[in-house]
Amino acid sequence: MVKRVFSGTQPTGELHIGGYLGAFRGWVEMQHTHDAFYCVVDLHALTAGEEPTRLRRHTLEVASLLLAVGLDPDACTLFVQSHVPEHAQLSWLLECTATMGELGRMTQYKDKAAGRESVPAGLFTYPVLMAADILLYDADEVPVGEDQRQHLELARDLASRFNSRYGPTFVVPEAIIPPVGARVMDLAEPTRKMSKSTSSSLGTIRVLDDPATIERKVRRAVTDIDTEVRYDRGTKPGVSNLVELLAVATGRSREEAAASQAGYASLKAATAEALIEMLHPVQERYVELAGDPAGVRAVLEKGAAKAREVAGTTVSRASQAMGLLPPGRS
Ligand code: TYM
Repeated sequence: MVKRVFSGTQPTGELHIGGYLGAFRGWVEMQHTHDAFYCVVDLHALTAGEEPTRLRRHTLEVASLLLAVGLDPDACTLFVQSHVPEHAQLSWLLECTATMGELGRMTQYKDKAAGRESVPAGLFTYPVLMAADILLYDADEVPVGEDQRQHLELARDLASRFNSRYGPTFVVPEAIIPPVGARVMDLAEPTRKMSKSTSSSLGTIRVLDDPATIERKVRRAVTDIDTEVRYDRGTKPGVSNLVELLAVATGRSREEAAASQAGYASLKAATAEALIEMLHPVQERYVELAGDPAGVRAVLEKGAAKAREVAGTTVSRASQAMGLLPPGRS
């Protein structure tokens, strides 16, 4: 049987090459081999306190970018999370099986809550909503970057706990993390992952950055005082990040990529060129899609209708397993 795959991305800020290399490229490949469901997770973005008009705009932009990256509406189901209310519904059911202790141990929660005077409850329960996303679709596999590993473990734990408490209900999903490109680091601060929250900085390359911007950002990337091009995350984080980018963008191993460059200047020039070339077709397609918002919304509408069929069945199954009285007379 064809395996089911589910994954999601938040519509906060613009997509960067971290997400592209860590996740979206895998999504594109898996749409041809799996029954694929991909989601723009706008409910998750609410935890970041996005400004309403920006959130609405980014949701459509991210959906358009995912199509530009290569998602094909005939090969996968692409939709917006809030268009399928079952996500919030299942999240509540799962919240009643998750514990404060396990949610408090999530490192992303600890990082995001640190130093804040008041922490939204949604930030705390965020990983439960994420588990609901995945479990709703009986997903066997979930392609994500390294930073989502712990959340995936939680989704597995919640599924197994539910199954043993209420009987077999959910598929226990597996994380699919790519061997290279799963943790792209910030170019200006290579010990931190590249992230949307710093998307204005020099350290983040956006999928839509123009060639001159990409060149400038890569040229200014932090390296070290040594001169040797070598992959070693521990002692050479900046150089290793560039080597990794060059490797994934050109389809070579890290060792081959490192050996192909004699010094930092040529490493940077080759990396910038490879990224520009990799992003060029995506940017071209994006321009077309951005000119047709109604077309993109039609794709999302169709996707949500298909997603709701699956999601509705799962919520009924889980509700009944937990003892909720089914609506109707029989
Ligand atoms: P998000 O929106 O932050 O990122 C989307 C995907 O991109 C990956 N990623 C990276 N990969 C490599 N290097 C980086 N620097 C980098 N930054 C981001 C992420 O691992 C992710 O796969 N919580 C999720 C969204 C989500 C989800 C889900 C994912 C909600 N529900 C269900 C999978 C299944 C998030 O914030 O991803």
